[in-house]
Amino acid sequence: MTDAYEIVIDKIQESKLSHTDFDNLTFGKTFTDHMLECTWRDGKWETAVIKPYGPIMVEPSCKVFHYGQAIFEGMKAFKDDAGDVFLFRPEDNWIRFNESAKRLAMPEVPEEVFIEGLKTLVNLDKDWVRHGEGLSLYLRPFMIASENGVAAAPSTEYKFMIVMSPAFAYYKGDVRVIIASDYSRAADGGVGYAKAAGNYAASFYPNNLALAEGYQQIIWSDAASHEYLEEAGTMNIFVRIGDTLLTAPNNDRILNGVTRRSVLQLAKDAGLTIEERRISVKELNEAAQNGSLKEIFGSGTAAVIVPIKGYKHKDFKYELPILEDSYAEQFKTALKDIQYNRADDQHGWRVKI
Ligand SMILES: Cc1ncc(COP(=O)(O)O)c(C=O)c1O
Repeated sequence: MTDAYEIVIDKIQESKLSHTDFDNLTFGKTFTDHMLECTWRDGKWETAVIKPYGPIMVEPSCKVFHYGQAIFEGMKAFKDDAGDVFLFRPEDNWIRFNESAKRLAMPEVPEEVFIEGLKTLVNLDKDWVRHGEGLSLYLRPFMIASENGVAAAPSTEYKFMIVMSPAFAYYKGDVRVIIASDYSRAADGGVGYAKAAGNYAASFYPNNLALAEGYQQIIWSDAASHEYLEEAGTMNIFVRIGDTLLTAPNNDRILNGVTRRSVLQLAKDAGLTIEERRISVKELNEAAQNGSLKEIFGSGTAAVIVPIKGYKHKDFKYELPILEDSYAEQFKTALKDIQYNRADDQHGWRVKI
């Protein structure tokens, strides 16, 4: 379409900003003044509307409640020292969103609705993007099947929406993980690569079992053999053996992470040895036993990089060493410096609002 994509804007009468206690936020519980809503009906997208954040009316027979046609994205906006606001690689999220849509038989969302919608919404609520170390605005574009009726068939109506929540420096304490040897997150030919709501629902029960054992996350292994590492609940996984950086290749069971892709590029820029290949649990355990396993870390939008302190696989437990020259720390600093406009953006990842 054209540059002048039109979005209808209905502004809130009084901002909630002055009543918001930014020092005591719980992640994902507080939402900004506005949200975006765009309906797909009769085979086309209607005009997107930005309006005050609030409840939406849906009937109990709404298809999303029955057949789970629901997808989402997770991204962030950052404010630099001068007060300018940036998105990080938003096109990548848009592309991935539409890959998810396709897999769930949902309509693809045009670039102007997703990207221009995001930019307009963030710009309108830019005072909600706080400036400071680790502070950001978490952006949640999502789409649900909104047709009424319980026939098991794809919906003929959908709602694309964006809501936004102020986020703070993310520190959850030490993270130890269990490598899955029983439950699976995704299977060949399934929806693992899509950001489908049901993938997360399916992981909650095994994750609760892990939590009860004192482990904060699960590293999923391949469903067929449980012998190869895949990804964690909301993070892709990297392993450092010696000085080689390893990560599982993308496949139809793994979410193609934007942070993962960025880490791989930074590692390439730094001249590190990288191997994108299957990593077996056997290889990991052997490296742990012979001392060559130096780091495991997760990568994802929420926490950027999360160092893993220890892992358990069946009866084998291992605590990772504390390193002075950790790759995890280097990548975290480098990525945050780009996101907060403190470093050159060689790859054009920042998008100014
Ligand atoms: C299952 C899963 N894997 C990996 C990631 C990391 O992806 P990204 O770096 O794009 O946030 C996420 C979070 O979005 C996720 O939900």
